[in-house]
Amino acid sequence: MGTSNSSISAVVLSISILIVAASAGSFYDDMDTTFGGERAKIVNGGQDLSLSLDQYSGSGFQSKHEYLFGRFDMQLKLVPGNSAGTVTTFYLSSQGAGHDEIDFEFLGNSTGNPYTIHTNVYSQGKGNKEQQFHLWFDPTAAFHTYTIVWNSLRIIFLIDNIPVRVFNNNDAAGVPFPKSQPMRVYASLWNADDWATQGGRVKTDWTNAPFTASYRKFNANAKKVGPNSESTNSVNDNQSWSTQGLDAAGRNRIRWVQTKHMIYNYCNDRKRFPNGISAECKTSRFL
Ligand SMILES: *[C@@H]1O[C@H](CO)[C@@H](O)[C@H](O)[C@H]1NC(C)=O
Ligand SMILES: *[C@@H]1O[C@H](CO)[C@@H](O)[C@H](O)[C@H]1NC(C)=O
Repeated sequence: MGTSNSSISAVVLSISILIVAASAGSFYDDMDTTFGGERAKIVNGGQDLSLSLDQYSGSGFQSKHEYLFGRFDMQLKLVPGNSAGTVTTFYLSSQGAGHDEIDFEFLGNSTGNPYTIHTNVYSQGKGNKEQQFHLWFDPTAAFHTYTIVWNSLRIIFLIDNIPVRVFNNNDAAGVPFPKSQPMRVYASLWNADDWATQGGRVKTDWTNAPFTASYRKFNANAKKVGPNSESTNSVNDNQSWSTQGLDAAGRNRIRWVQTKHMIYNYCNDRKRFPNGISAECKTSRFL
């Protein structure tokens, strides 16, 4: 009797920890500050969040929930003017050893010079999968939407709904793919003038501090995992992300981005990987 009760409750529990939920929401409901105290500010009734960086600290926030697959959209307006040395981020990460991570990082630059959009994927603690881009617009003049689609088949990075990078699941070829560790959403603004801008040659100019980046319209159409995921409403979910790939139009657009706007691709860096490039570089062709 005791045994069957506990096996029933184990089944109920395992069903209730995987509920798909759309959260379009208030930063008050979705996020907690991780560091920087008052430098991370939720404003406009929960609709906007601003992060700032001064000589003493940067700032950051993380999602209250953990997710296993989904589509994550965030609008960002980056630090304007002389943003050299600063790094603004929007990424997903699991915790602990052998972690998984999917990164958008925005490396600032001196006035008039372009930001670098840095992307990377870690699986089971291993990264070294960088692709970098310059943008076709000024990311400090207005909000633009940065999206991570993460499903069991692939990861897609999009900017204003234009795919800029696809990382396919090549588990079968022995390339670990993030697929079992739940991740939180993180964002931060911090000083990285030892490496970020032109390889660390251009330092942060603190006379311009505080530096500020703004976030809004966070949307996670994603599978929540863990405590508190039961309370969310699962009606009206659009799960098109769960099988999302590139159609012909998407392939055209990513080809345009990768031809005209990509500035670094680890797949082409034979100097850095003299023993051969990683298997997914050979197999994950969308072109
Ligand atoms: C900064 O501008 C220089 C010159 O245009 C460019 O080479 C570099 O990629 C830009 N971004 C960073 C982060 O240094
Ligand atoms: C679902 O979302 C996708 C991508 O965000 C969109 O293109 C599609 O029209 C949506 N479908 C429905 C039924 O809302």
